[in-house]
Amino acid sequence: MNTVETFLNKKKSKEKITVLTSYDYLMTKIIDDTVDAILVGDSLGMVMLGYEDTTRVTMEDMLHHIRAVSRGSKKALIIGDMPFLSYHIGVKDSVINAGRLVREGGCKAVKLEGGYGVIDSIKAIINAGIPVMGHLGYTPQSVNVFGGHKAQGKTKESAKKILDEAILLEDAGVFSIVLECVPYELAKYISSKLKIPTIGIGSGQNCDGQVLVTHDMLGFDENFNPRHVKKYTNLSDIIKKAVVKYVNEVTYGDFPKEHNSYVLDGFSIEELIDLK
Ligand code: KIV
Repeated sequence: MNTVETFLNKKKSKEKITVLTSYDYLMTKIIDDTVDAILVGDSLGMVMLGYEDTTRVTMEDMLHHIRAVSRGSKKALIIGDMPFLSYHIGVKDSVINAGRLVREGGCKAVKLEGGYGVIDSIKAIINAGIPVMGHLGYTPQSVNVFGGHKAQGKTKESAKKILDEAILLEDAGVFSIVLECVPYELAKYISSKLKIPTIGIGSGQNCDGQVLVTHDMLGFDENFNPRHVKKYTNLSDIIKKAVVKYVNEVTYGDFPKEHNSYVLDGFSIEELIDLK
């Protein structure tokens, strides 16, 4: 069973950490013993629920999916994302919401976005005994502030802010930090400065680990092709071909065959008709 210690040990031994998202039971069963950690990301808002961005995702959405993932996992560290506004209103609220994800959902750690603005919440959650993963750089819940999906930390001032916030988060006790879409030189420097691991997405190969949205790397959405995603297969194509085959076979009577059907147990249909 992986824990936050697994992350810290891998950083020490310079082994890369692998993280993928999952939002349901079956996907979790498939990937659970291969990756170090599974993130039940609020990206489920777009992937599972068809929202435009993550700001519509609620605590109830997160709990529903974290429960399903927890039921499918035996080994990976399950990290639950704290949704928009679940850790911004007050420290007490933040601890209650993080606690719900752990107690009602079954995840073993939570992730939340931001630095200075949420540091008191981060400290209080850690103080309550819940491991926290930070998230800096492009933080999707702030999409309306950024004005779209844009790499962060490209200017000297914004790079310095991300570096300072990474150190702030480490000092507060987070067990790792996701660096999303920051220049690879900055991600490399931050990774070398911190004792805790950085988990990169769109931030180059020098992070201590990588995370991707599983549906992105499996090619579920043929129209979603951001720079940071590598498609390891093209499931939308594979699924479409299989569905067309099914429709044709049903239409032309090739499915189901006899071996896909059940048979009466020791009597014929004529005997049943005779019973009338
Ligand atoms: O919500 C999510 O899936 C994430 C990862 C992409 C880091 O935050």
